[in-house]
Amino acid sequence: MRRKLAAGNWKMNGTGASLAEIEALAEAHPTPRSEVLICPPATLIAQMAWEAKGGPVMVGGQDCHAKASGAHTGDIAAGMLKDAGASHVILGHSERRADHGETDADVRAKSEAAIGAGLIAVICVGETEAQRDEGDTLKVIGTQLAGSVPDAATAANTVIAYEPVWAIGTGRTPTLDQIAEVHDFIRAELAKRFADADGIRLLYGGSVKPSNAAEIFATSNVDGALVGGASLKAADFGAIIAALDAA
Ligand code: PGA
Repeated sequence: MRRKLAAGNWKMNGTGASLAEIEALAEAHPTPRSEVLICPPATLIAQMAWEAKGGPVMVGGQDCHAKASGAHTGDIAAGMLKDAGASHVILGHSERRADHGETDADVRAKSEAAIGAGLIAVICVGETEAQRDEGDTLKVIGTQLAGSVPDAATAANTVIAYEPVWAIGTGRTPTLDQIAEVHDFIRAELAKRFADADGIRLLYGGSVKPSNAAEIFATSNVDGALVGGASLKAADFGAIIAALDAA
């Protein structure tokens, strides 16, 4: 049985005042059936983790460095996220891949570091619109999985997020058949490498909102969502959590 996971990715949004959203979320959903994770900007991790302690909301990072320490100005090691109270870290988000040139090998190295530090790696894959139009979606996803997911991955330490690049922040989503096709493919690809592949959670991400969450959560091999824009407000994210709890 895979426990459902609702993960929020705040990206570069939020200041101390935004912590009120977490309070509101925890108040509205004190005992969700699903796991709930918020990945705020690094500046908020420690304080959010402190305030969320003992409650239903887990806290994660949005990136980490592959090394444990050293001369890497501006970077954050996985162990530092853990020390700040994070339980998870998003890795290989398409915005990191695009803005910072992260390769599959980079994402794999970061994932190894995260797992080694005791974090759960939320590893993102997804095709661009041009790749989908070319009919290359499954090929691209297969290559990203092979390159980005480390051999150390297990159901306990790794979550995979399928995020079509063209659906992120655009209000556009794939059809449910397209989501099912990719999620079924990811499950089958993982099964070739990992004995407990059946237990690895697969999240869908890209323009998930209260109005489309229920149908996405009813789709084959969708175990939850990675939510950007709609995770910033407790009311919207709470509605997504409620839809996941009901799925
Ligand atoms: P979105 O972002 O929900 O705003 O489309 C999802 C993501 O990038 O994780």
